[in-house]
Amino acid sequence: MIDIDELEQLVKTRRSIRQWQEKDVPEEVLKKALEIAVNAPSGMNYQGWKFIVVKNKEKIEEIADSVKNRIRMFAQWPEAAKYIDDPEKMVENAGFFKKAPVLIAVYSQIYPSGRDGVYLERMSHDEEAKKMKSWLDLANPRIQSAASAIAYLLLGLHAQGLGSVWMTGPMQAKGDIEHILGEFEGYDLVALIATGYPAETPKEKKMRPFDELVQFVE
Ligand SMILES: Cc1cc2nc3c(=O)[nH]c(=O)nc-3n(C[C@H](O)[C@H](O)[C@H](O)COP(=O)(O)O)c2cc1C
Repeated sequence: MIDIDELEQLVKTRRSIRQWQEKDVPEEVLKKALEIAVNAPSGMNYQGWKFIVVKNKEKIEEIADSVKNRIRMFAQWPEAAKYIDDPEKMVENAGFFKKAPVLIAVYSQIYPSGRDGVYLERMSHDEEAKKMKSWLDLANPRIQSAASAIAYLLLGLHAQGLGSVWMTGPMQAKGDIEHILGEFEGYDLVALIATGYPAETPKEKKMRPFDELVQFVE
């Protein structure tokens, strides 16, 4: 079993990396990290995830361009000038992962739950059922399961010297990315992970005080 201090060190030294060396990432390294990811806990142990690993440069560029195009559309909406300080900067940054050596697309599977049928029937006439369903929806086990696998994946990559970034921003181009990578019946793209050997050292990150984040109840 791994030493707790080593685990803490691994977790605390993992940072989001957004610039990479051109160096190739061997398939065994990616497989090892993905093996760790698929062992993450999931709701009902459904393991409803699919990881599509892309090393093809043109495909990664095509995906980055599709994201940039969507953000360009967004930046041109009159509402953007109202709410966003510098919409043009958003467009500039949108496809930053274009030169990533590897892109891992994370898909999440819809899982059929008998519970949904019960709520669907009751919600129209039972306020308590409606409230309970809204509480349950907030917890979104499908997304939490994908997130647990992604967290493990990032650590698995980091432990092998890779630097990665977890991205949900590109989901604004979900349909376009799925068109490029292929659609999988019953699955939705929920995140992209760009990875490779790091070519930057991120600045120290600000941490909120631990006591503000954790409370023990008597
Ligand atoms: C759910 C989620 C979505 C994220 N989406 C993006 C993204 O779209 N683009 C990006 O550059 N970073 C994204 N990040 C990375 C965060 O900005 C980063 O984790 C955070 O600033 C803390 O920095 P650290 O990862 O170096 O500890 C995302 C992280 C999470 C957990």
